[in-house]
Amino acid sequence: MKTALITGCSSGFGLETAKFFLEQGWRVVATMRTPRDGVLPSSDRLRVLALDVCNGQSIRAAVEAAGPVDVLVNNAGIGWMNVVEGTLMETVRDIFETNTFGTFAMMQAVLPQFRERRDGVIVNVTSAVTLKPLPLLSAYTASKAAVNAFTESAALELEPLGVRVRLVLPGRSPETSFGDTARSRLQGQGGFPAPYADFVRGIFDAREQQADEKVTHPADVVAAVWQAATDLSSPLRLPAGADAVALSP
Ligand SMILES: NC(=O)c1ccc[n+]([C@@H]2O[C@H](COP(=O)([O-])OP(=O)(O)OC[C@H]3O[C@@H](n4cnc5c(N)ncnc54)[C@H](OP(=O)(O)O)[C@@H]3O)[C@@H](O)[C@H]2O)c1
Repeated sequence: MKTALITGCSSGFGLETAKFFLEQGWRVVATMRTPRDGVLPSSDRLRVLALDVCNGQSIRAAVEAAGPVDVLVNNAGIGWMNVVEGTLMETVRDIFETNTFGTFAMMQAVLPQFRERRDGVIVNVTSAVTLKPLPLLSAYTASKAAVNAFTESAALELEPLGVRVRLVLPGRSPETSFGDTARSRLQGQGGFPAPYADFVRGIFDAREQQADEKVTHPADVVAAVWQAATDLSSPLRLPAGADAVALSP
């Protein structure tokens, strides 16, 4: 029986991915910053562990407690939307700590066991925003584009060792709490700078006028993560969701 360790399982894509892997008969180590009962259906194949990807001690403790893992899904992430001038350096660092350095640190934590067994898959969830420049997303896009870059480099190092690395690039998914969390972070920091107000309004107005905008559903992301984890011939980059597929070269 295979085991998947998934980060950020308290909500959204991580939660749905954990449920799906359990339904497929896998063992799942569902990790959350603050573990809560009742988030996932109870199962003797489920372990819920505390894990904050920004904390090295927390990573070491969770990976040790998890025991042997076959697939790591780096799903934990935070969003941010603002112009460069409206983004505090502290916020840039927070975004990179979670999305970029957290993912890198998790890879480092599981690679010794994968390398020794000459087996294992790492699935890094980034974003389709990395496929096309968009305003207001400089810091977030950079944090995810960096993951694309180091994942593609790592794939070359790890392929000879029998370890597979994959990228899942979801499109915009209004069904998760991701956008709301990013919006409250933005409000907490004073919103958009006044000199950009008209520019920002124009962006939101244009979006509202897009009648049949394509979006991504959590099930699209789950399917892409499953393919990345189980299909030996899956491509390195897997767009997830109709909007992500439309943006893919
Ligand atoms: N929804 C979208 O439109 C979209 C599009 C493209 C890519 N993505 C990416 O997809 C991934 C999942 O997002 P989602 O839409 O499912 O959003 P979500 O519901 O907000 O889930 C994000 C998860 O990450 C966790 N997390 C945040 N910081 C963490 C940390 N330091 N350590 C461990 N876990 C942490 C959150 O846990 P807490 O409950 O503790 O905060 C939460 O479980 C993210 O990497 C995101 O960047 C999302």
